[in-house]
Amino acid sequence: MFEKLKSLHVATAERAILQLFDEERAGDFSIRADDLLFDYSKTNIDAAARDGLIELLNSRGVAAKRAAMFSGEKINETEGRAVLHTALRNLDGEAVKVDGQDVMPGIQDTLSRMETFASALRGGEILGAGGDRFTDVVNIGIGGSDLGPAMVYLALAPYANGPRCHFVSNVDGAHISDILVGLNPATTLVIVASKTFTTIETMTNAQKARAWIVASLGETAAGAHFVALSTAADHTAAFGIAPERVFGFEDWVGGRYSVWGPIGLSLMLAIGADDFRQFLAGAQAMDRHFQHAPWAENIPAMLALVGIWHNQICGHATRAVLPYEQRLTRLPAYLQQLEMESNGKRVAMDGTDLPYESGPVVWGEPGTNGQHAFYQLIHQGTRVIPCEFMVAQEGHEAELADQHHLLVANCLAQSEALMRGRTLAEATEIMSQKGLSGDEIERQARHRVFPGNRPSTTLVYPKLTPFVLGQIIAMYEHRVFVEGVVLGLNSFDQWGVELGKELALALSPVLAGSEDGADKDGSTRMLVAHLKR
Ligand code: F6P
Repeated sequence: MFEKLKSLHVATAERAILQLFDEERAGDFSIRADDLLFDYSKTNIDAAARDGLIELLNSRGVAAKRAAMFSGEKINETEGRAVLHTALRNLDGEAVKVDGQDVMPGIQDTLSRMETFASALRGGEILGAGGDRFTDVVNIGIGGSDLGPAMVYLALAPYANGPRCHFVSNVDGAHISDILVGLNPATTLVIVASKTFTTIETMTNAQKARAWIVASLGETAAGAHFVALSTAADHTAAFGIAPERVFGFEDWVGGRYSVWGPIGLSLMLAIGADDFRQFLAGAQAMDRHFQHAPWAENIPAMLALVGIWHNQICGHATRAVLPYEQRLTRLPAYLQQLEMESNGKRVAMDGTDLPYESGPVVWGEPGTNGQHAFYQLIHQGTRVIPCEFMVAQEGHEAELADQHHLLVANCLAQSEALMRGRTLAEATEIMSQKGLSGDEIERQARHRVFPGNRPSTTLVYPKLTPFVLGQIIAMYEHRVFVEGVVLGLNSFDQWGVELGKELALALSPVLAGSEDGADKDGSTRMLVAHLKR
């Protein structure tokens, strides 16, 4: 199937996307579902390519794998785990079984404990050791224990009416120092968020935060100022966090898929339990759409197929995510983990080498900022970078509707410019109108040519509410899932992060001077020596 699709691509590679547009194309090559509009008509995908892509998807057993995921089968084969982040937003509570056990009662119980805690803290019933209300929350976590809540907290700023949240992730002491310096220990709650409760960055920062609380409020105060979010009750107890301050989850929630459960506690404290439920409800709506819409009308599935078309078929190795929404400033970073940690694999589920590229490099920045930075390369560089635009119909700032119009105009103008381009003849005409003549016209005109025919998709959503954001994140999760199944790899493990962790542990004593590092290569030894000087 891949070969057939590649031939289709080769046969149509020189065709101008613009030529594909008749009266029907925009409607035919877009999907409207649950108030979302996903437009992929500005790509070189035609009916034959779409049919071929859907045939590919069917041939890879995506429907069966989807059913297996939702029903709690252990599809994460290299870790022997089910993949059930969808159960965290299964608000109806319909049974979902792992090893014959319904996981829903446990999930509902934890959600309701989180809600009780959040309401009491927001309402001033849960106080610091000295009787002060909590004004600030510091979430200490990294990767999936940071990116989800940190991204969503910024995205839902208009809904935040609880304590201020801060996120510490980096082991670089600058991170925790810069955050704690502006805070008062007496009014600060520290959340230690770590699925494993062993991650070196998180545990190091958590110890520093503990020392900061104890230095100011005394040893007995620590309990009132700490909460843990983890699957590892033994480790949270060893850290000294009381069981009633631990919100647990199970190993079938992957770190990068965990914002829907306890890892989202900081968010719930900020926006309140009702809006947090709206966030879950949006994700659940997307789950249903993904489960039931036919493939050609299924947004995550078609988003995945567009991604495969661009990466594995056309050979465009990277993908730019360009939200025209300032509050989605951390979405590209969030998607980098979601997509690259999930599908950045070089072997298939059965351990054989992948016969095609793994998932794409994902990067981006909100528009319009990116326009004044890296869009130059997207428009005129030698590489083709498929772009994924996103924009809201409406902003939250009703009084600034004129700015929203400008924002939308910029978003649409970029995808139009990428597709349309500017020919040498058009550029020459512009130069001659400016009064240039002779060879200088062509020389100057060539710098002003835009090759065009550069593909993009656009997602339009009503407004960035908790519900809509839930839909959008779940949409990306399912897109990553479909891409992973089509590529035949395991999207739910992350062995590629382990080697660096092991070597860092081994290097630490070398840098501290207690080991000589004689077994290290020449470059590493030189760098260590220079750093120690
Ligand atoms: O090192 C990668 C990773 O395991 C991610 O998958 C995960 O999100 C992150 O580290 C944090 O892990 P934990 O929540 O266990 O601290």
